[in-house]
Amino acid sequence: MIKLYGVIGNPIAQSMSPVMQNQEFQQFGLDAHYQPFHILEKELETAVKGMKVIGVEGFNVTSPHKTAIMPFLDKIDPLAEAIGAVNTVVRKNDEFHGYNTDGDGFIRALQADWKEDFMNERALIIGAGGAAKAIFYTLLSKGMAHIDICNRTAFKAKKLIEECPYEGKSKAISIAEAEDTLEHYNLIIQTTSIGMYPDIYKSPMSVKNLLPEAFVSDIIYNPFETALIKDAKQKGVKTQNGLGMFVYQGALAFEKWTGIAPDITRMTNIVVEQLG
Ligand code: ATR
Repeated sequence: MIKLYGVIGNPIAQSMSPVMQNQEFQQFGLDAHYQPFHILEKELETAVKGMKVIGVEGFNVTSPHKTAIMPFLDKIDPLAEAIGAVNTVVRKNDEFHGYNTDGDGFIRALQADWKEDFMNERALIIGAGGAAKAIFYTLLSKGMAHIDICNRTAFKAKKLIEECPYEGKSKAISIAEAEDTLEHYNLIIQTTSIGMYPDIYKSPMSVKNLLPEAFVSDIIYNPFETALIKDAKQKGVKTQNGLGMFVYQGALAFEKWTGIAPDITRMTNIVVEQLG
């Protein structure tokens, strides 16, 4: 019998996950289908129960349900629990288990585009929202220690650090301070929505003090090159956009569901094709 997977969110029509996941099911000859489901906040609990009883094997969770879904799952992985958000659900013996593959997806993409081992580097995260939290907590859980955070709203950066259950040597700094001391960091991780379509000319900070040997990762992929990435490139600095993180978080979900490591290049290509 065909196995059913999917993604729940609101909105959901723009999601790239269905084409990406369905291509891989097909390529590996799996009798499976991945369906987008538009679920309103007030229907979330009913939706999860419905997916349980009709036999859905696994699904992704996107905005705005990543945190709200947690009480409706049977078990939560410790990292997802710490982050306080779930993006992947796997059925195991008629239970729904929640995971968060966003941070691991980010790490895999960084390893692919920069270097395998960056755990001893000094990183700066720009932003203190949900994406920043997933990345920061995952990096710290893997043993990376030197990660500072700057955010427009300073107390949110401070709170993220204070509430993190993993040990590190982080401090919260202002955007102005980050700009002034940018040469202290060899990895910059941009997690805010600044520079995202349609505000493509906006950048969260000046790269005047950016080290030429640094690496800049911006998790935005629409546009492919944000103003920050363009500025960094102009200085000869190596960069990546958020496409890799998106593809790898999906690949890690696929692997949890099927036990198969999918083809990253093929997944990337179909997303690029879709984005035009
Ligand atoms: P996500 O889940 O995508 O991380 P989020 O949780 O809403 O989204 O977080 C958005 C992040 O982008 C926050 O760090 C936010 O800064 P504040 O905490 O000060 O709100 C940041 N952000 C969004 N728009 C911004 C803007 N115009 N200027 C500066 N920071 C902005």
